[in-house]
Amino acid sequence: MSAYHIQSLEEYFNQYRKSVEQPEVFWADLAANHFQWKAPWTEVLDWDFTKPEVYWFKNAKLNITENCIDRHLESKGDQTAILFEPNDPNEQAQHISYNALYQAVNKMANVLKDQGVKKGDRVCIYLPMIPELAYTVLACARIGAIHSVVFAGFSSTALATRINDCDARIVVTADGSFRGSKTIDLKGIVDEALEQCPQVNSVLVATRIKSKIHLETGRDHLLESLMSKASDNCPATVMDAEDPLFILYTSGSTGKPKGMVHSSGGYMVYTAYTFKNIFQYEEGDVYWCTADIGWITGHSYILYGPLANGATTIMFEGVPSYPDFGRFWEIVEKHKVNQFYTAPTAIRALARQGNEHVEKHDLSSLKVLGTVGEPINEEAWHWYDKTVGKGQAPIVDTWWQTETGGIMISPIPYATPTKPTFATLPFIGIQPALMDDEGQEIQGKQVSGKLCIKFPWPSMARTIWGNHQRYKDTYFSAFENKYFTGDGAIRDAVDYYRITGRVDDVIIVSGHNLGTAPIEDAINEHDLIAESAIVGVPHDIKGNALFGYVCLKDTEVRPDDAVIAKAINGLISEKIGPIAKLDHIVISPGLPKTRSGKIMRRILRKIACGEGDQLGDISTLLNPEVVAEIKEIVGR
Ligand code: WT7
Repeated sequence: MSAYHIQSLEEYFNQYRKSVEQPEVFWADLAANHFQWKAPWTEVLDWDFTKPEVYWFKNAKLNITENCIDRHLESKGDQTAILFEPNDPNEQAQHISYNALYQAVNKMANVLKDQGVKKGDRVCIYLPMIPELAYTVLACARIGAIHSVVFAGFSSTALATRINDCDARIVVTADGSFRGSKTIDLKGIVDEALEQCPQVNSVLVATRIKSKIHLETGRDHLLESLMSKASDNCPATVMDAEDPLFILYTSGSTGKPKGMVHSSGGYMVYTAYTFKNIFQYEEGDVYWCTADIGWITGHSYILYGPLANGATTIMFEGVPSYPDFGRFWEIVEKHKVNQFYTAPTAIRALARQGNEHVEKHDLSSLKVLGTVGEPINEEAWHWYDKTVGKGQAPIVDTWWQTETGGIMISPIPYATPTKPTFATLPFIGIQPALMDDEGQEIQGKQVSGKLCIKFPWPSMARTIWGNHQRYKDTYFSAFENKYFTGDGAIRDAVDYYRITGRVDDVIIVSGHNLGTAPIEDAINEHDLIAESAIVGVPHDIKGNALFGYVCLKDTEVRPDDAVIAKAINGLISEKIGPIAKLDHIVISPGLPKTRSGKIMRRILRKIACGEGDQLGDISTLLNPEVVAEIKEIVGR
């Protein structure tokens, strides 16, 4: 009996046991029976976390697009693969069938080929949530080019950094994007970025907002005209299971963004399998994940996971607040959405708008509600459960990361009893461990520690692009022979996990992973600023808000605080993007430091949170006197 569809807790425990006791047998059975391979593997798994090296389905050959598109054509060519819901509710939704998706992806693949793109080349994709984004991602996969999608809310500097890091020679973008009542000049941002990227020799521009744009002769081409001339037959390139499928950048606690590299075979198997079970997707269902494809959630659970299962997946171009805060529920009703997957920050923002927006709409199609990106608080959980799900649609609180490629800890709906704020049980094949500060694994129940994973899983990132050492240092050095997630977690009396948040210098704001260092670097570029430190403070809607302490250089000029604050947020928007702007800025006389010069963020965080009277012993600091001054200024 194949284990592909889990429908009871008992079955979950059975399969979980198999996946731990005989992981290779388990995954080989699953991979062989539910996917198309062009050549079999010679070894299911080969791994060594000390290097770290991980190979799944060694030497197997495949092309993920044949699994996501071609193999469905015969049985469901006319079924909607991607349902595009535009920003403007008055614009018609677009039902893109598997046949139509096949044609568009093949054309796009030929367009890329004509531009000289070959297997292994990196293609930077800077597109809004329009069908061309899906076509380009899948077209890359079809010809074995490595896609690097950059979220189209990132600034030109952030885009340039990402283009250069992976040495992309081609960028696919659009004239602009619609976002609620606004438009964004994407092509202008790309033009600015490319001033820093002389190696880019081809830019393909999709037409969306029909704005006047500059086209650089010889470099820039309108995508529409190339597509209209391209053949819709592009044979799928034979890929090794371990060939890179994509790079996706995530911010680290230090330095430049990390280009996480994901491979083809294991990623396909794991995202497909988790999608099927965690959303209990059945034939004919309409599934909607509100994320942007610029994040891993969109890669794995808008595109690859759903399409590998032959699902209907919604791609939404707009925002939850346009034309009003009922938009999500209007879409759920309109398309009879069965599985809905969003982030706690959206849930909180919508809950705040009151229940009328929800109650106006018929949401009875909903069978499963998902959440991802940050810990969900109890209040938001209950609102989601009662007001949106009417107590009838189980919540799957799914914990995972850009690095893990797929969902790691989550209930299986209708099988695992849920518990508010708990991600509950590890998914099949996942072996979590809680570690103490001495590096020992904490056994037993009702304990808390740093969350690690002690055995490889198929969709784990294989390296950081161009910097394997950093991959090792970041994830495999804190604890011997284990992948360290950067999160803290507790395990309760029934072995359920609750993720308590980051234990490093990453702050999650509205579900966006932000490293403190890049933001501080941006601030420190200001002429008058000597140094700065960012901490997270709880925020009702965003989960965390950014609180910045900045120290001015010792000069005669002391501009108005408001002027400095404005300049700081301007710099951050320019270097990173508006998502990283600070909510609070304090001009600080200094920063508390250890004797080795490390900024004591713990102290700054407490002061910012109004817990300045609970700092404990600060006498060992290099400059304890500064703490009282900061407390005075912050006044919390
Ligand atoms: C970090 C990873 C993977 C999807 C989007 C975020 C936090 C993610 C949960 C959850 C508590 C969560 C963790 C993790 N996180 N999901 N269900 N409960 N925290 O991907 O940007 O790579 O961020 O998001 O802190 O480490 P990402």
